[in-house]
Amino acid sequence: MIDTLTPHAARLKATSLRALFADDPARFEAFSARLDDLLIDFSKEKIDADALAALLDLARHSGVEAARDAMVSGAHWNLTEDRAVLHMALRGGAKAPQGDDVKGTLDRFLAFAEDVRSGRYAAAAGPFTDVVNTGIGGSDLGPVMATRALEPDRDGPRLHFVSNVDSGHLTDTVKALDPARTLVIVASKTFTTQETMMNAHTAREWLRDAVGEEAGRHMAAVSTNIAGADAFGIDASRVFGFWDWVGGRYSIWSAIGLPVAIGIGSSDFRAFLDGAASMDKHFRETPLEQNLPVLLALIGIWRRNAMGWPTVALIPYDQRLERFPAYVQQLDMESNGKRTVRNGTPVDSATAPVIWGEPGTNAQHSFFQLLHQGTDTIPVDFIAAAMSRDGVNDHHTALLANCLAQGQAFAFGRTEEEVRARMAGADAAEIDRLAPHRTFPGDRPSTTILHRQLDPFTLGRLIALFEHKVFVQGVIWDIDSFDQWGVELGKVLAIDLLSVLKGEQGAELDDSTVGLISALRELSV
Ligand code: F6P
Repeated sequence: MIDTLTPHAARLKATSLRALFADDPARFEAFSARLDDLLIDFSKEKIDADALAALLDLARHSGVEAARDAMVSGAHWNLTEDRAVLHMALRGGAKAPQGDDVKGTLDRFLAFAEDVRSGRYAAAAGPFTDVVNTGIGGSDLGPVMATRALEPDRDGPRLHFVSNVDSGHLTDTVKALDPARTLVIVASKTFTTQETMMNAHTAREWLRDAVGEEAGRHMAAVSTNIAGADAFGIDASRVFGFWDWVGGRYSIWSAIGLPVAIGIGSSDFRAFLDGAASMDKHFRETPLEQNLPVLLALIGIWRRNAMGWPTVALIPYDQRLERFPAYVQQLDMESNGKRTVRNGTPVDSATAPVIWGEPGTNAQHSFFQLLHQGTDTIPVDFIAAAMSRDGVNDHHTALLANCLAQGQAFAFGRTEEEVRARMAGADAAEIDRLAPHRTFPGDRPSTTILHRQLDPFTLGRLIALFEHKVFVQGVIWDIDSFDQWGVELGKVLAIDLLSVLKGEQGAELDDSTVGLISALRELSV
């Protein structure tokens, strides 16, 4: 089916964004869509009306609508793990399975968050001044990203996040903290992840060294593995559950969001959920032609499968969204970085692109050179807010001017002729020497996502937009977006290598690994 895009791609590869804009003065209107104050402008993508129609046909024929309805109805859409996919139920966007008390659990962890914030739940030495969340992947990236994004809404205890098994992460995080006033949350869907469990044990030792048996009071847990949290010794009153129908990278809406709730309070956390629910409603009810996640997904399919571009730069013009690219990396690449279709045969098209990025304007001063003049076309997704939360002088206007300028420069570039005209008056030989270097090829696509202001509701809506985009692409590629078998092999090998490194076990190893181990031993003295 993806082949139907080929003739459209051939036509559009032979034209330019300059020509497309020149041919259609109403291009912005035709290639942008809105949900209230959220706008997606994809007029700077190399598509035309026929290509867009072909993409929408592809979505229809791939069964996107039926798949979405199946997911929402609780069908076991995650085939290889035989699980429902119902993270939408955590925010009222779908119904949870009978007996799973979403509302009661939400009320419970939000009440706990308020108790910690207010000091009603406190250490013997007084209210908690600091909270350390130990988790990794989906049990870390969402809370880290959202906590940073919502800094203007944050008060209460300071929040810290430890994910890496590298002890440097925990050591550096706790070195300035007072264990007598620190709460540690162990966040792990499975409660078996090596990194998190090691960090949890070490953090507990750090607490015990300072407060002895009181340490128990300083720990809470979030997991689907209630028995695991119990075995670790965390009191049931501070264990908050969720369910196997919530994928790790889709879990920020569950009790995994506890640190966020401690930071922003329960009413803002509910606004965050409401934002996501409003995107769920839009996704469920809006025709494909105006459906923002569907359009964003189709632009991605166009870039990846029709134009053959293997990577995307995600550039928020918002310093507080600095961890958003890392969050979307897991969401997208762990979901759709797959090579088999749902029935187990090899996929016959390219799947998820490599996603990476940093906030603008910083990115302009590091890797944008390559985006403008390098030999590859790398599409860019910009995100920007119309209004700042701070209103400091003209900073925000300058930020927006830069964002718009980059989109313009990518799309239209500057021809050698234009460069020469601008250099008029300079020495002719100098113009010949420098003009090729100063030329911008342009014709580099971008999509711009605009919203009014980054607040809890908007952030919830933005995350859900990307979640549904990933879902739609997974349906079109016919892959299981909700498993992650690709991370398993490394985990298993690391367990064996841990015993080898500790000298507890020998193993049949390849020559390179043997060489590296002996070098490590040599270097360890
Ligand atoms: O390694 C992959 C992964 O399973 C992610 O999908 C998940 O978010 C992360 O590990 C952490 O898992 P857990 O929450 O079970 O500790």
